[in-house]
Amino acid sequence: MRLSRKIFLLSAVTCGVALAQMPAFARHAHDGGGDPADSRARQLLATMSLEDKMSLLFSVDGGGFNGSVAPPGGLGSAAYLRAPKGSGLPDLQISDAGLGVRNPAHIRKNGAAVSLPSGQSTASTWDMDMARQAGVMIGREAWQSGFNVLLGGGADLTRDPRGGRNFEYAGEDPLQTGRMVGSTIAGVQSQHVISTLKHYAMNDLETSRMTMSADIDPAAMRESDLLGFEIALETGHPGAVMCSYNRVNDLYACENPYLLTSTLKQDWHYPGFVMSDWGGTHSSARAALAGLDQESAGDHTDARPYFRALLAADVKAGRVPEARINDMAQRIVRSLFAVGLVDQPPQQKPLDVVTDTLVAQKDEEEGAVLLRNQGNILPLSPTARIAVIGGHADAGVISGGGSSQVEPIGGEAVKGPGKKEWPGDPVYFPSSPLRAMKAEAPNARITYDSGTNIASAVRAARAADVVVVYATQFTFEGMDAPSMHLDDNADALITAVAAANPLTVVVMETGDPVLMPWNNSVAGVLEAWFPGSGGGPAIARLLFGKVAPSGHLTMTFPQAESQLAHPDIAGVTADNVFEMQFHTDQELVYDEGSDVGYRWFDRNHLKPLYPFGYGLTYTTFSTDGLKVAERHGQVTATFNVHNTGTRPGVDVPQVYVGLPDGGARRLAGWQRISLAPGESREVSVQLDPRLLAHFDGKHDRWSVPSGTFRVWLASCATDDSQQATMHLHGRTMAP
Ligand code: BGC
Repeated sequence: MRLSRKIFLLSAVTCGVALAQMPAFARHAHDGGGDPADSRARQLLATMSLEDKMSLLFSVDGGGFNGSVAPPGGLGSAAYLRAPKGSGLPDLQISDAGLGVRNPAHIRKNGAAVSLPSGQSTASTWDMDMARQAGVMIGREAWQSGFNVLLGGGADLTRDPRGGRNFEYAGEDPLQTGRMVGSTIAGVQSQHVISTLKHYAMNDLETSRMTMSADIDPAAMRESDLLGFEIALETGHPGAVMCSYNRVNDLYACENPYLLTSTLKQDWHYPGFVMSDWGGTHSSARAALAGLDQESAGDHTDARPYFRALLAADVKAGRVPEARINDMAQRIVRSLFAVGLVDQPPQQKPLDVVTDTLVAQKDEEEGAVLLRNQGNILPLSPTARIAVIGGHADAGVISGGGSSQVEPIGGEAVKGPGKKEWPGDPVYFPSSPLRAMKAEAPNARITYDSGTNIASAVRAARAADVVVVYATQFTFEGMDAPSMHLDDNADALITAVAAANPLTVVVMETGDPVLMPWNNSVAGVLEAWFPGSGGGPAIARLLFGKVAPSGHLTMTFPQAESQLAHPDIAGVTADNVFEMQFHTDQELVYDEGSDVGYRWFDRNHLKPLYPFGYGLTYTTFSTDGLKVAERHGQVTATFNVHNTGTRPGVDVPQVYVGLPDGGARRLAGWQRISLAPGESREVSVQLDPRLLAHFDGKHDRWSVPSGTFRVWLASCATDDSQQATMHLHGRTMAP
């Protein structure tokens, strides 16, 4: 990774211009075109004092942060905002819930909840309906726990496979990320709970995370990370967007007019509000004029409580016009009406843990990715002698650390050494894969070895027909992975076990892609990500074929770190990686532009270990008959999919495009399709026109070039087997 001082000239508005343009976007919010939430908000705000309106712009710490307690009225969570008296608005009970409802520092007595598997797992289903169900589940649990604002989903692109928070995100492709995260948001909000799209934007690494400037050509950003956010917004209509800690092209994201005003509110017509990340506000007038609408937990995490007396003074002195305050309040109150917080307030009741855990389990069953299955070692024989080794599989499944961490129902399954510093020991959910395997195959003879002593694991492997090694990699908010290797010497363990018994299957529970130096010596590999509250049964059912794997990768697995756009994270070593989050004034030039992940590999003709989009199952599919047609600017690819095997299964045919002027291929659409053995179906996939275009930063619009486009019908990003071409006439599209 190269760090240097390089400033891109933004076509963005400056604070001064934003001020001049302010009435325009205030007007946009106000001429709501018959939007009932908009007019209800307008009517209500017309009756409120300036002071009351300003009280909506500042939430306080909700407790559990460095020993803080819940404020009066607060349930105990990330933040709390008391509604103005007599307004009829609800207090905002704001909780983290990237993967499930959080209970920071066990602040609430009954704060355990069901956790989904990691974000990549939900994304790896490529199933928007599954993503929606996942959102419905956490939205319902939030509502039943008294919360009306959730801080998720995360739509940053996983630009680096070592990113500490990749497990909260979807993957490296903007279309895939946008659709999957947007679907989860829609699910959350169907439960009358605001979902907060975060961390806007370019918050793709934890190194130097509070200050890092992610430097990138704005047009390339519009075609990559910002496109992911744009599609998530139009798919999910989140009531709130959280601006991120980092800087983007030198300016803090929470006071960046290009991000917050020109792009989000003007180009995308976003009617909701922007809240800051915890500790992400750095000014009052500058932030408000740039487009920040609400300061989060500003009493506790920011250097000063900017959106209180300081902002009031700015208004009084004319530095911030009152119209801007009205716009901020309008956006917040509009979201409360639009999502149903006013009409359907939360009702606290016990969670339906059984039903909710089944949702998490189904998500994991669809999202785990079968990477290798030599000689059809999977599904396992239900009568085999099976040696299960490592990964605390006897106790539970690992989860990612930080603000998305959910308190497990039933308590933590593994007692760690009691690490005091953030984020503490890894938390294991008590959903034991070993127990679930025994329940799934009562006639199998299953033994367990902890894997801590390689000689003992090798003995167990020799005595078995088949070996299943569980291997983990703990990642967490606040630190990027120091390397791409599995934890706990797992590479050596797997190598030794596979040498003793080549019929070895590795189940990986990881937050990121990892290096797999033993790949060719094992028979099977299942990437189970962080498997969530229903992880044990999901893995067991996949291993024994009760369900067929159907997940497909949303991140490229490289062969080596040297293949990455940034082979190393500058300044980071295994010893200092934790401290590096606090480093300041670093700049990271994303000179790969919009060529993230598989696009980088394609552009540089690099062969990954496992490509984006890849995933096996227990049957086989073929596709043929690719045709591409354009009608009124809409391009549609049509083709046939056949299940050529002997089991039912799910296929995820993907359509990639190549623009006439070259460059890397891009995912432009996909279909998830379930077929019985021998069944065939014709499938049509509409290609998102923005993937056929370049973003023209000068004129602030999309531009489809004239010429011959290539179209690939593919099973993954490197599949070249079926191609077609089409000719398009150039055109431009509004941003
Ligand atoms: C994280 C956010 C989180 C917030 C509140 C921050 O440190 O970056 O993702 O929502 O804390 O817990």
